[in-house]
Amino acid sequence: MDAALFDKRRYPVVSAPEGYGEWAETYEATVAAGLDTPLLESLTTVPWRAIARAADLACGTGRTGRWLAHRGVRAIDGVDRAPAMLSRAAAKGVYRSLAVADVAATPLPSAAYDLCIMALADEHLAALEPVYREAARLLAPRGRFALIGYHPFFLMNGLPTHFHRATGEPIAIKSYVHLFSAHFAAGQAGGLALDEFRECVIDENWLATKPKWRAYLNWPVSFALVWRRGA
Ligand SMILES: C[S@@+](CC[C@H](N)C(=O)[O-])C[C@H]1O[C@@H](n2cnc3c(N)ncnc32)[C@H](O)[C@@H]1O
Repeated sequence: MDAALFDKRRYPVVSAPEGYGEWAETYEATVAAGLDTPLLESLTTVPWRAIARAADLACGTGRTGRWLAHRGVRAIDGVDRAPAMLSRAAAKGVYRSLAVADVAATPLPSAAYDLCIMALADEHLAALEPVYREAARLLAPRGRFALIGYHPFFLMNGLPTHFHRATGEPIAIKSYVHLFSAHFAAGQAGGLALDEFRECVIDENWLATKPKWRAYLNWPVSFALVWRRGA
């Protein structure tokens, strides 16, 4: 479903490549780290220390790659459609390779990764099946696909993914609502089994980093799904 159906803000909307091309400069200073970091740290079914090779889909500026590197993952390949985001990822020095590519059609090798991870990007995909199929192709047997997403309830509550231009003008980035049943169907169609499902709800700790979000206290703001490829 197009997130525009629920949009209450009515900001001008741009495509993901255009939006992230522009947001890249201020992205790390403004993205809410509470969306993904607490969820990553809560996951119990990803054996981080045992992961030798990871593919970071929609790696952006490399926040997830840096998090993985701190957990000892040495070989991380990243892809993203926005070159301006990728150049910031390159500057972090934690990726083995980086490529401009769509998450659904990467140049990465098949059956080569212990972990595929995609953080905060599924809402920009019109359909989920292609990225689940691609993650399944990339994973080695028993490899995991960890998907962290902006919560569909939040998009349905009318708050689109957005950033502010240097002028202060708010700009929304084209987004889609994917219900959890759609994730489940896409994962199953890709031959993956669901191992873990978590949701992050805005609480007082969360608000300490983003006080302006107080109106959303108790709303689920993000989620994590961990999938496993069979043997
Ligand atoms: C909110 S950022 C998340 C970046 C990073 N994963 C993080 O957690 O900070 C979303 C990223 O998804 C990328 N993106 C959106 N659609 C994409 C697609 N179809 N293929 C590849 N990258 C895409 C954008 O360019 C952007 O860098």
